[in-house]
Amino acid sequence: MNFHTQTTPAAGLAAVAADALVVVVAGDAPPPTLESPLRDLLADAVAQGDFECKPGRVLVLHRVAGVKAPRLVFAAAADAAPKAFKSALAAALAAVKGTGVQRLAVALQGGDADRPDDRHAEAVATAAADAVYQYRHTKPSAPPPPALRDVVLLGPKAQAAALRRGLERGQAIAEGVTLARECANRPGNHCTPTFLAEQARQLATAHGLKVDVLDRKAVEKLGMGAFLAVAQGTHEPLRFIVLRYQGADKGDAPVVLVGKGITFDTGGISIKPAAEMDEMKFDMGGAASVLGTLLAVARLGPRINVVGIVPACENMPGGRAVKPGDVVTSMSGQTIEILNTDAEGRLILCDALTYAARFKPASVVDIATLTGACVIALGHQHSGLFSADDALAADLLAAGEAALDTAWRMPLDAEYDEALKSNFADMANVGPRAGGAITAAKFLQRFAKDLRWAHLDIAGTAWKSGAAKGATGRPVPLLTHYVLSQAR
Ligand code: BES
Ligand code: MN
Ligand code: ZN
Repeated sequence: MNFHTQTTPAAGLAAVAADALVVVVAGDAPPPTLESPLRDLLADAVAQGDFECKPGRVLVLHRVAGVKAPRLVFAAAADAAPKAFKSALAAALAAVKGTGVQRLAVALQGGDADRPDDRHAEAVATAAADAVYQYRHTKPSAPPPPALRDVVLLGPKAQAAALRRGLERGQAIAEGVTLARECANRPGNHCTPTFLAEQARQLATAHGLKVDVLDRKAVEKLGMGAFLAVAQGTHEPLRFIVLRYQGADKGDAPVVLVGKGITFDTGGISIKPAAEMDEMKFDMGGAASVLGTLLAVARLGPRINVVGIVPACENMPGGRAVKPGDVVTSMSGQTIEILNTDAEGRLILCDALTYAARFKPASVVDIATLTGACVIALGHQHSGLFSADDALAADLLAAGEAALDTAWRMPLDAEYDEALKSNFADMANVGPRAGGAITAAKFLQRFAKDLRWAHLDIAGTAWKSGAAKGATGRPVPLLTHYVLSQAR
């Protein structure tokens, strides 16, 4: 898809040439700035009860006299802020899905701010990419790709540069999100650790990144006893993937992103119930978001160094699988009593965090579909954010707000650590059910002692269940914004 900006024609929106003109109307009444004939049309539609200025409402009109575009779409937004604008646009895009629209123009009217800025432009690109995304890799019968090819954002001339910047950023983020969705939607028999490593290699070749892929032997040599314990229950070979983007001086401390890459989580010997277990193919959503973010960053080329680390394996209950009560030695030297083999994410991440220290990072963010407890706590709206570093937490929260991909900060008080006591090792890998997302984070924190570290629990945000079952590509937008915010 191509994205452009265009100055709103002097003759008004009615003169815009496109297959469809989407007018996002912000506020609870038809905006007074809207010129005729659009203003009269909208006022009449409201008077007739065909449209309301309420979020979610969309009106599609065909071949309106005096309007050049053959389809005119009004979409209501609560206000002119990027968030409301984006959901109104998404509703409008859904309304024209399956039509022959190839060229679509978008305008924002009403609210306090009639002028779209770079955040609106970013929203246009991400919403459009979202609207046309269709998983098809293992579904040949999927509907053909939509015709949508060109998306034009209209705005005042003075905003053109900002809009172009926003579109470019949005397009890069959208590509990252799409890559993450494409990886995570693939079933577990396709998306294996080997597949993830192959994706990383292709990404490196296409975008000039450096890549290292470690196999079991190399991981054994490093002493990653916790990661190895998870991987020992399956015949599927593990991979430890390291991707590097260099946009600044070699010596510049990088941002390190660590993504949980469990390509299928059965729970191991502490096996999960059958219901919805298929969704555990999404347990590599953290890994997918690291690949997607590196793609977005490489496309944008900011002056910063970024390292992506992905420990990848399956969690299976094989004959050689790790057993409840087994004690393993992590790469850090700390021993772990594995009381529950289903708390495997923290076992692969703890060794990856120890490994991350070798890059002398400016900050380390791990991203993981780590706990069902986080879904209970936050639902599907916000990712869970854990960090003892207030400045890092603030940067990540701000990045989430800017990207419309939000996180919510959770506590890390010392008292929660008690839960991980073990009589047989330095720590247990689980605590009681209560506060499960927090004790998981406390476990990881023990391996991040000398790091500026944050943890994102994306168990509730990385995918959707039910009829819309599928990966979301979150939190690629948040992570990309974070990396951009740290560039010089
Ligand atoms: N991958 C799961 C977490 C998960 C579960 C994410 C359901 C989304 C939906 C993780 O490996 C896991 O199994 N966690 C356990 C931890 C428990 C054993 C302490 C959980 O959340 O039940
Ligand atoms: Mn698990
Ligand atoms: Zn898991």
